[in-house]
Amino acid sequence: MSGKVCLVTGGNSGIGKEAAVGLARLGATVAIVSRDRTKGEAAASEIRRKSQNEDVNLLVADLSSMSSVRQLAQTVLEKYSRLDVLINNAGTYLPKRVVTVDGYEAVFATNHLGHFLLANLLLDRLKASAPSRIINVTSDAHRGAEIDFEDLMQEKKFSAFKAYHQSKLANVLFTYQLAKRLEGTGVTVNCLHPGVVRTGFGKDMGGLFSIGVKIMGPFMMSAEKAARALVYLGSSPELERANGKFFSKSKERESSRESHDQAAAERLWQVSAELTRLSSTS
Ligand SMILES: NC(=O)c1ccc[n+]([C@@H]2O[C@H](COP(=O)([O-])OP(=O)(O)OC[C@H]3O[C@@H](n4cnc5c(N)ncnc54)[C@H](OP(=O)(O)O)[C@@H]3O)[C@@H](O)[C@H]2O)c1
Repeated sequence: MSGKVCLVTGGNSGIGKEAAVGLARLGATVAIVSRDRTKGEAAASEIRRKSQNEDVNLLVADLSSMSSVRQLAQTVLEKYSRLDVLINNAGTYLPKRVVTVDGYEAVFATNHLGHFLLANLLLDRLKASAPSRIINVTSDAHRGAEIDFEDLMQEKKFSAFKAYHQSKLANVLFTYQLAKRLEGTGVTVNCLHPGVVRTGFGKDMGGLFSIGVKIMGPFMMSAEKAARALVYLGSSPELERANGKFFSKSKERESSRESHDQAAAERLWQVSAELTRLSSTS
């Protein structure tokens, strides 16, 4: 991966941080995105130390804020003349309905809209660096979910479970729709369920969720092990042509029936483009 540039959102903790270590060990230039400068700087130093690669940088951005995402994309374009791997990994699971600076429900905004906008704003640079790859970190939690277009932001009724599961289905629908648009460009996009992993994920949930995570902890996969699949998807030569696929760990698998709903994918794209005001810039 020497000479290649990899951008990892949510790179200050969990699976994202370990994937950054793995890619840096392979010689890549790595930029991690963190919303918190202090946490991000500590993570960047740890990644440099573990990988023995000094070429690891921190970019500070909040994926739930569309202006912050635009600023992030601008910084990436100014700082790096190429972009080979974009890993859309940051994610959140919140117990209560939180409204972002843009007035959007925070789980949908962070897990889907922020990454939708980031990927689109960086597409030209990815195309110019082809062959290049985008990996969206989704979850098996997408199974059984549907996109509630009538109440996308859960203004009528909020369910933490529904918000997270819907956002992870959005990751898969977005992957498949983007893959179609990218055919023939040399840029590929795939999505990954990393497994059930012992990280700080869902740390805000409290209650039964936290008790369950504590009990299950010893049986969960380590972030380091889970990150191997991300590094594989981002670097392995045999996956250079894989496009529009769902992976569970390192194996290609079938995603849910709902994730193949073409009408839902097109509608989600259109709504996301409007909410992120993408159409005015692309
Ligand atoms: N752990 C699992 O079992 C599991 C299973 C399936 C899928 N996943 C997916 O794996 C991905 C990584 O999760 P993880 O398990 O590694 O958990 P994690 O350690 O909590 O990592 C999540 C990362 O996302 C960042 N993040 C959250 N909201 C953000 C925002 N608004 N702006 C910027 N960054 C933000 C977090 O930053 P802070 O440190 O500032 O919060 C953190 O760096 C997520 O997309 C999750 O849905 C995890």
